[in-house]
Amino acid sequence: MSSEELYLLYHGLLVPKETHSLESLKFAQDFTFKDDDVVAVVYPKSGTVWMQEILPLLLNGGDLTPIHTIPNWDRVPWLEEKRIELVVDKLASPRAMVSHLPYQLMPPSIHTSKAKVIYVMRNPKDVMVSSYFFHQMAGFLPDPGTFDEFMNTFLEGKVLFGKWTDHVKSWKQTELGDRIMHMTYEEMVQDLPAALKRMSDFLGRDLREETIQKIAEHCSFKTMKDNSMSNFSLVPKMYLDHDKSQFLRKGVIGDWKNHFSPEQRARFTSVIQKELENESFTLPWSL
Ligand code: A3P
Repeated sequence: MSSEELYLLYHGLLVPKETHSLESLKFAQDFTFKDDDVVAVVYPKSGTVWMQEILPLLLNGGDLTPIHTIPNWDRVPWLEEKRIELVVDKLASPRAMVSHLPYQLMPPSIHTSKAKVIYVMRNPKDVMVSSYFFHQMAGFLPDPGTFDEFMNTFLEGKVLFGKWTDHVKSWKQTELGDRIMHMTYEEMVQDLPAALKRMSDFLGRDLREETIQKIAEHCSFKTMKDNSMSNFSLVPKMYLDHDKSQFLRKGVIGDWKNHFSPEQRARFTSVIQKELENESFTLPWSL
């Protein structure tokens, strides 16, 4: 199917029709955050499902029941997806959600409530590789074409939720003060217990070292890959075909080195650097 048939256009952003509707996007726009809500905002393929595993465990002191009994999409729903309306009233407090929205499309209640945001960023080269394989398995996304063609599509922002640089820029310049915390996928891969401790402190949870260690074990790539409530094996093959690629595919830093030619690296780096050249923040990795 063509991109036109598969995507909705929402404020200039491509959004998959299979998972989103104008009603669900309106629901997100009008959403009323509660003071104790937590939302992890993640550009697609940067660790969203990982946060759907982590947040309930941090918020409930390491009780494994939700991650063993509730599929990730209902446990920590996407703010802007169709299922939110069905599950939002069933969420235990404090409620945890995820979102792919840029900052300017957050509902006004993000400003008037005391809800907290964790923004997770990943090296865009690895994001692009992960996205390329995801497009191969996801029946609700267009065929990515060749790796080189997909690189252009990605750099032009003709992918779900738009350009990576626009997303990052929007979330690096918020007025949320100490209600937003910035996390990187790389930090989580390199030292998950330390990343969990930083997040739990931000969320005001005083978790013991052994609880953090237990949560880290249950949120490891290997454990999540075996958890049918988190590995998308419950989703019919026509939507996610695990014979073509795995949702929990590699879970590493730097897989781009296995896929980018020197020319592609130079092209990619130059576009990203140019788009960020006037920004006041620096990226935590060299491109
Ligand atoms: P790869 O395709 O590089 O393996 P999202 O949930 O935003 O779509 O992101 C998916 C990416 O996060 C995939 O990257 C997936 O493997 C990775 N991921 C999910 N859980 C992870 C974990 N526990 N450890 C490391 N990476 C994880």
